Amino acid sequence: MSDFIPPFPKRHQVNISPFQALYYAQNDLLSIWDEESFTVEFMHRKILKQNVFIANSPDTVRYVFVENKDNYERKSPQMRRALEPLLGDGLFISDGETWSGRRKIQTPLFDSAHIKMFTDTMISTIAEISDEWAAKSDDVELDVHPEMGKLTAEIISRTLFGEKLGSENSSAVVEAFAQYQSVVKQTNLTNFLGFPDWLPNLNAKMGKGRRAAKIIHDAVDNIIAKAEEGGHEGTLVAEFLNANRGESGVDLMTKKQIRNELIVLFMAGHETTANVLSWAWYLISQAPDVEAKLQNELVQVLGGRIPCMADVENLKYTRAILDETMRLYPPVPILSREAKSEDIIRGKKVPAGSIMLIVPWLIQRHKKYWDKPDHFIPERFMPDASKPIKFTYIPFSAGPRVCLGKNFGIVESVLSIAMLAQRFRLSMPLNTQVEHECRLTLRPKGRLPMKLNLRS
Ligand code: HEM
Repeated sequence: MSDFIPPFPKRHQVNISPFQALYYAQNDLLSIWDEESFTVEFMHRKILKQNVFIANSPDTVRYVFVENKDNYERKSPQMRRALEPLLGDGLFISDGETWSGRRKIQTPLFDSAHIKMFTDTMISTIAEISDEWAAKSDDVELDVHPEMGKLTAEIISRTLFGEKLGSENSSAVVEAFAQYQSVVKQTNLTNFLGFPDWLPNLNAKMGKGRRAAKIIHDAVDNIIAKAEEGGHEGTLVAEFLNANRGESGVDLMTKKQIRNELIVLFMAGHETTANVLSWAWYLISQAPDVEAKLQNELVQVLGGRIPCMADVENLKYTRAILDETMRLYPPVPILSREAKSEDIIRGKKVPAGSIMLIVPWLIQRHKKYWDKPDHFIPERFMPDASKPIKFTYIPFSAGPRVCLGKNFGIVESVLSIAMLAQRFRLSMPLNTQVEHECRLTLRPKGRLPMKLNLRS
């Protein structure tokens, strides 16, 4: 069993003040936690006038996400404001009837029959990247994170828009996305934690963001118009247009609303998966016994052939690596909600308007619920191991707002690890320091250099 402990930010030994937390959070939202945060179950901090609570135990997470879900369904105002110019009233930031109506239309598009439909696209896209890698010289150094970004953006774009419309439009969309994200990045992400909004120049910066959003809006409007002409069956945009025709023959969503939802899927559907895959390659490269077990499984299950959908459930160790990667490096490490009305949790008053944080980064490394919480041990997710306590493992969130693309992301990641690990060995050059960057998502910081070798 692996005894590898991947790096994590230093934990403070004593409680730090809100002002110190603000200072640390400017650079890295994961550097604000003290040792105690990995043992406590429910926390309250007052940051100037803002009440911030953290649900950090199975019962409090269940309460927020399930038992009193209506009170905590709304994303924090800062999150909504930052993403609204791009996503409009899209699923990720909407709530109430808008959210529930849209979620109802989209849920069937991500059921197992549809996932099966998408796996051919996933496999052919992974095979293309794999052929590109095979054409490189042995021992070449790759920057793995952008490689994974390219792979997952290509998969989501072809699934949503089809190969033709996807390839015609995806580079403009991907570029404009990067630009929008860099604007959101420049805005002070500390206020996602409920810190006050000290952003006098946010509007000026968002001007640039709005221009990037317009490029994306125009590209997706254009795709929808082309899809309406027909001939794009099997793509999500065509499925959307079908699903939108309600039983009465009246459209359920306007074109603008469909565009918002497609943009949500594009945004939510590629960076998270790219981050997980990048962390997975890093972790595998540091744990020789994990790499050996993975190779053994690939030989046993696939015997050298390309996997298909039916193989995914048999690739149990590959899946366990993925699950353990998302435990240690949850792609969305902090989930933030706004309390609609006053509440009481564990005897403590939660005033209306409080920020409620659920922090996968903390609860998935909580000392009470996990054995060797900082070790990389995929075996803990094998079918013969005891299951994690419910609501302590929440990389996809939980309750009604659980990630819509959960199964899509899992199948895509298992296939990517299996197909690429089957053909290549990725190893880290000596003395490479791997650090993380935590913004909206948790990703490797800067380059993630890895040497690429074809397996014989
Ligand atoms: C490993 C990959 C992924 C991870 C770890 C992940 C994680 C998450 C998390 C934690 C949330 C909830 C955010 C919150 O409550 O603030 C979420 C929401 C969402 N995700 Fe994912 N995601 C992944 C892949 C995908 C993919 C591939 C798609 C689409 C194809 C997708 C679509 C969505 C959508 C639409 C939502 C909003 C759901 C709602 O509010 O009802 N995700 N995801």
